[in-house]
Amino acid sequence: MNRIDRLLAEMTLEEKIGQLSMLAAGFSVTGPVLGGDTTGDVRTGRAGSLLNVYGPEATRRIQRVAVEESRLAIPLLLGFDAVHGHRTVFPLPIGEAAAFDPDLWEETARASAAQAAADGVKLTFAPMIDIARDPRWGRIAESPGEDPLLASLFGEAKIRGFQGEDLHEAGSVAATAKHFVAYGAANAGRDYASTDLSERTLRETYLPPFVAAVDAGVAAVMPAFSDLAGVPLTADERLIGGWLRGEAGFEGVVISDYNAVAELVVHGVAADPAEAAALALRAGVDIDMMSHCYRDGLPEALDRGLVSLPEIERSVRRVLALKERLGLFETPHAADRPQPGTPSPDALRELAREAAVRSIVLLEHRGDVLPLDARPQRIAMVGPLADARAEMLGCWSGAGDSASAVSFFEGLALARPDCDIRLSPGVGIRDGDESGIAAALDLCAGSDVVLLCLGESRDMSGEAASRSDLDLPGIQRRFAEAVLALGKPMIVLLSAGRPLCVPWLAERADALLMTWFLGHEAGNAVADILTGRRSPTGRLPVSWPRTVGQVPLFYAERPTGRPASAEHYTSKYIDGPTAPLYPFGHGLTYGRFRLGAVVAEPADAREGDMLTVTIELTNEGPLAGEETVFLFVRKPVSRVSRARLEMKGFGKLALASGETGRLTLVLPVEALRFLDAALRPAIEHGAYELLVGPSADRARLVSYWIEVGAA
Ligand code: NOJ
Repeated sequence: MNRIDRLLAEMTLEEKIGQLSMLAAGFSVTGPVLGGDTTGDVRTGRAGSLLNVYGPEATRRIQRVAVEESRLAIPLLLGFDAVHGHRTVFPLPIGEAAAFDPDLWEETARASAAQAAADGVKLTFAPMIDIARDPRWGRIAESPGEDPLLASLFGEAKIRGFQGEDLHEAGSVAATAKHFVAYGAANAGRDYASTDLSERTLRETYLPPFVAAVDAGVAAVMPAFSDLAGVPLTADERLIGGWLRGEAGFEGVVISDYNAVAELVVHGVAADPAEAAALALRAGVDIDMMSHCYRDGLPEALDRGLVSLPEIERSVRRVLALKERLGLFETPHAADRPQPGTPSPDALRELAREAAVRSIVLLEHRGDVLPLDARPQRIAMVGPLADARAEMLGCWSGAGDSASAVSFFEGLALARPDCDIRLSPGVGIRDGDESGIAAALDLCAGSDVVLLCLGESRDMSGEAASRSDLDLPGIQRRFAEAVLALGKPMIVLLSAGRPLCVPWLAERADALLMTWFLGHEAGNAVADILTGRRSPTGRLPVSWPRTVGQVPLFYAERPTGRPASAEHYTSKYIDGPTAPLYPFGHGLTYGRFRLGAVVAEPADAREGDMLTVTIELTNEGPLAGEETVFLFVRKPVSRVSRARLEMKGFGKLALASGETGRLTLVLPVEALRFLDAALRPAIEHGAYELLVGPSADRARLVSYWIEVGAA
C-alpha cells in the first residue's frame, strides 16, 4: 500500500477534514479573521496547512508539533504570499511586467523561492495572473497588466522560478496561480465586486494565462473571491471541475481564498456553512483557507447527503500528493535542507537593483534634461516620495524590512557625491498640511534642477484599495503646480501601484519617470537611470488613461462600425480624447530608434509553418539604448470581428549610437488561431496584417501583409 492509501485508511473523518483546512498563524496580513494559537489544531490533526508563518524557528516549532505530536505525523504545508519577493523585495508585479523579460521574471521568482524556503515556507500564493484593464482596481499593482500573452509569459516564468526543476529541491516552493478567474473584471473596478463577461472574452482574454500556468505545471490554483455571472468562483463546478481540471488538465490542489468558502453564504448561494462547504468541495476546492467552513460544515454536509466521503477523500489525496511532491514527509523542516545555490545577500541586492532598473518606464522626455549633467550641480529633491524608504516596497511586501530599502534621495546622494543635493518634501502623500510648501519652493528656486517625487502611498494599491479618482492624492497637485510654475528643469518621479491620470503633469514635466514601487533597491535603480549609468528600457504593460472616465481601457479593442472621427455619430467622447495618455508598450529610452522595413517569411504561409519576422532598427540618437519591439497581428476580415491589434510577441535589441541592427521574431502560424463563431479554435485562412513597432500606437507601427492558407 502506498503512503497516501495507508494514511487514508488510518485517518478519522476529522483528520481528513483537517488536511483540507488551512489556518492563519502569526501575522494578520489579510482577511477579516485572525488565527489565534493554532498549535492545538495542529496537534489534533485539525489543521493540515497554515499561512503567514515564516522564519526557521517559528516554522520548525509548529512543524515539530505536526510531525512529532500529531497522531499520524503528517507534515504541515506552510504557505506565504511572496508576491514580489520574500526577504528581498523586488518591484511590484505591474512594474516587473514592464521589463518584458521572462528570464528576469524567472530569476526573481527563483530568488524569492530560495529565501522563502530558507524561512520554512514551501507554498507561495503567487503568481497573480489576473488580466487588469481598470486602474481603479487596486490589485492592478499585483498583476502583469492588460494583455493575455504577457500575463501568460509572466506566469510561466514565475512558476518556473518558484518551482524549479523539481518541488523536492531545497530552493523550490509550490506556486499558486491566482485568482481563477476574471477577478480583475470587477464591476467599476471595486475589489471583490461581481463580474460578468461573455464566454468568448473569458476564453480569449482571462483563461489563457491559466492554460499557460497549468501547462507550466503549477502546483496550486486559487479561485477568485468574486462571482462570474452569478456563480462565485469558489463554488464554480463548471470552471473548476469542468474547465480547469477537465479541459485544462490541472491535477494539483485548489486552495480557496481567505474566508471565501464562508463568504458563499454572503454571496447568497449557500444557506449555511454546511451548504457552503459542500458547494466548494464539490466544485473542486480542496483547501479551505481560514473560513472554518470545511471543519465546521463538512461533517454536517456529509450527514445531510450534500457531499460524499469519496469526494472528501479525493481532495485529501490531492493535498497529501502535494506534500509528497514537496518532499515534506522526508524533510518536513524546509529550512533544514541544504540550500546550495542560494544567492548571497549581495547578489540578491544586485538582482533587486537590476529588476528595478528594468521596471522603470520613461514616459516623457523633452529636451535633454536626462541623463543628469555630468558637472556638479544643485539638485532639489521635493515631494513626499523623495525620501520615503518605508513606501518603496509597495503592497504585499512579504517578509521585507523597509528599513533596509534605499530611498530616491539616498540613492542619488550616493551616486552623485559631487552634487549639492537637498531635500524638502513640501507636502505629505495624503494629508492637507501646507506648512512645508514655502520651504520646498525656496529650495527649488535656488537649484539648477528639480526632482519632483510624487505619487501614492504603498497602501493605496493592492487588495481592497480601489480608487474612484486617479489623480494624485492629497494636495500634491496643488504643490506640483506651484513647483512647475518656477520654470526650473523638472524631472518627475511618479510612484504608484497603478497608472495615475495626470495629463497636466505629463504636459509640463521635462521628464516623467514611472517608478511604480521598485522594492529594496528603488533609490539605487533610479539613480542608475538619472545618472545615465543605465538607459531606461521599461515599457507599459497597461494602457495609461488620460482620465478616469476612459476606463476600462485596453489596446485590444474590437473595431466599431463607427470609428472615432470628426463626425458626430462616432464612437468617442464629446468632452475629451478617446486615445490613452500613453499606449500599451510605451516607454522611451536614451537612444532614438528608427524602424526600417519589416519582412515576414514566408509571406504565403501555410498552417504548420513558422513565420520569421525581421525588422531593421537604427539608433539615431547620441546615446546607446535598448529598444523593445512588439509584434501585433490583425485579421481585418473574419466571421467574428477581431481586435484591432493582438500582441503575438516582443523582442529587444541594444544598439550603440549610430548603430543599425536587425531583430528577428519567430511566430508559428498556429499562434494565429482564434475561436470561430461557435467558439471552436481554428485558423481562418486569408490575409493577416503583421504590425511591428515600439508600442500599440497604430500610427507608429510598420505593417506587412501575409496570406495564410491550408497546410
Ligand atoms: C487574500 C488575497 O486575495 C490572496 O491573493 C492572498 O493570497 C490571500 N489573501 C492570502 O494572504
